[in-house]
Amino acid sequence: MLITAGPTQEPLDSVRYLANRSSGRLGIELADSAARRGYATTLLLGPTSLAPADGRVMLRRFRTTSDLDELLRSEFPACDVLVMAAAVADYRPAVSPGMAGEKLRRTESGMTLELVATPDLLAGCAARRRPGQRIVGFALEPRSALLESARRKLARKRVDAIVANPLETMDSATVEAWLVTGDGPPMGTPGCIAKSAFADWLLDAIEGLGGAS
Ligand code: CTP
Repeated sequence: MLITAGPTQEPLDSVRYLANRSSGRLGIELADSAARRGYATTLLLGPTSLAPADGRVMLRRFRTTSDLDELLRSEFPACDVLVMAAAVADYRPAVSPGMAGEKLRRTESGMTLELVATPDLLAGCAARRRPGQRIVGFALEPRSALLESARRKLARKRVDAIVANPLETMDSATVEAWLVTGDGPPMGTPGCIAKSAFADWLLDAIEGLGGAS
């Protein structure tokens, strides 16, 4: 089982970055639960102070979207199930390589940052999967558009399931979520539950998924 978790950091210069509030907790709990169930588990983890408790989890760290892309290219082919819980940046600063060892200076005139789109790593994995590999993505959405957006992401990214969770999930100890798949109605958690309980709920659901095409 291959799990990604945590935020990405996209450098702006040698001391600053663009990131998000993901703590990685949900993906870390998933990795611990998967290892306890006996799955050979690899966790690709972004910059966070949290870490898995179970020593059987194989841990590899990333910082940028590009680091994670590289890790997925080497780890994805060997896995049976990918759970993509990482909060991956959609844009990164268009920093010139020359800025690598430098620091942007304050000016009186303000500043406009140029951002470039990052690749969709989840869709990339889905496009190169082999038969039998199952892929679960996440969708962090406002409650008003939760299920509708999750269904759109399921189709667009060509994955087997999307965990739809409201924006409040990020950096919180609890989660209320729905698993949206291509067949049947969405399956919801029993209300708002601890992320450790959610990990077991999701693994049960993943074990119940049919084989991928
Ligand atoms: N994801 C990814 N690569 C990206 C952005 C997102 O692999 N560059 C993955 C996330 O890990 C998650 C899923 O795609 O499993 C959905 O992420 P989300 O941020 O909710 O969706 P986006 O693709 O960014 O779409 P939107 O901006 O419309 O919400």
